[in-house]
Amino acid sequence: MTIKAAILGFGTVGQGVYQILQTKRDHLTKLAGAPIELCGILVENLSKERELPYSVFVTDQYEQILAQQPDVIFEAIVGEEPGFSYLTKAIDQHIHVITANKVMFANHGNHLLTQAGERVGIGYEATTAAGTPILGTITRLLQVNSITKVEAILNGTSNYILSSIQSEGRSFQDALEEAQKRGFAEADPTNDIKGYDAFYKLMILSQLIYRKQPSWETVLCEGIDQITADQFINAQQQGSKIRHIASIEVVNGKLNASVKPQVLPPSHGLYPVDGVDNAIHLIGDLVGPLTLRGAGAGQLPTASAMVEDFLYILQSYPVKQHI
Ligand code: NDP
Ligand code: HSE
Repeated sequence: MTIKAAILGFGTVGQGVYQILQTKRDHLTKLAGAPIELCGILVENLSKERELPYSVFVTDQYEQILAQQPDVIFEAIVGEEPGFSYLTKAIDQHIHVITANKVMFANHGNHLLTQAGERVGIGYEATTAAGTPILGTITRLLQVNSITKVEAILNGTSNYILSSIQSEGRSFQDALEEAQKRGFAEADPTNDIKGYDAFYKLMILSQLIYRKQPSWETVLCEGIDQITADQFINAQQQGSKIRHIASIEVVNGKLNASVKPQVLPPSHGLYPVDGVDNAIHLIGDLVGPLTLRGAGAGQLPTASAMVEDFLYILQSYPVKQHI
């Protein structure tokens, strides 16, 4: 008896999921109650060299992945499409899905969750703050609370660049290249440095917390790419730090959201958050102020969120086991 899993995308995140399925094989088998069988990996470019045993089935045809009849699909490809169409087809076939793709999920998450209903599990912890388990905390541990305000650092690359410039005196370009080398930044880092990546994550949080999103055109979205040298110097002279802050709150029954760089004094709760870390500070009417901080990008933290979602789904939904 096995549980069949497939991975879509074999870049930074897909390789992280593969690595955890290998290194935690025995532990996962015990927790899941059956061994996990990797039944296929989908990539775009079949001619790229991969560090994979010959026994692993790699294809560029999604239909061939579906033909393996996976129980669960991990999606770690880039952009709205083909991710959305692939997951729609998977849910149609009662396959549980776990995604790291925030561009796709901010746009289509609500549709996928509605489509899945009670029958199919959808894990999307990795879309928002990577390894920092904010979505699970809200979903499972803050159900009774009303969350009135969220203020967060949601892009690991931006925080890494800002920290490197301000603490180590590195140049923007140098820090960005390092973030790319370390797998934090997207292959095309436009969304990271222009604020769109944090915007998508804020919309996912909004949908989860408030069951709706503000109209996207009403949300101010600025990245870190327009911060001037003078602004960095002024912040340093005041003993402050510039951080990229995404915030959302309910004002007179309306959602007000923004994504932009802000100067934080040492007394601000998000001031100590350095490097690739993300942090989410929220206020619940019962719990009061709460801050969760952890890795906001990178291979293993992101894959960790996906594999934890995987296990939660296996434990929450009946999965047919293959003999
Ligand atoms: P990479 O660019 O490293 O890898 C992308 C993978 O997707 C590659 O293997 C690529 O194939 C494959 N791919 C791209 N387009 C297609 C397609 N049309 N069909 C099939 N496969 C395709 O990205 P990451 O691993 O960094 O990110 C993956 C997803 O996870 C993204 O949505 C990203 O936003 C999200 N994410 C990333 C985090 C990170 O820290 N890196 C953290 C949290 C979320 P090929 O190898 O052939 O080029
Ligand atoms: N590029 C993203 C970031 C990856 O730097 O935050 C995590 O979603």
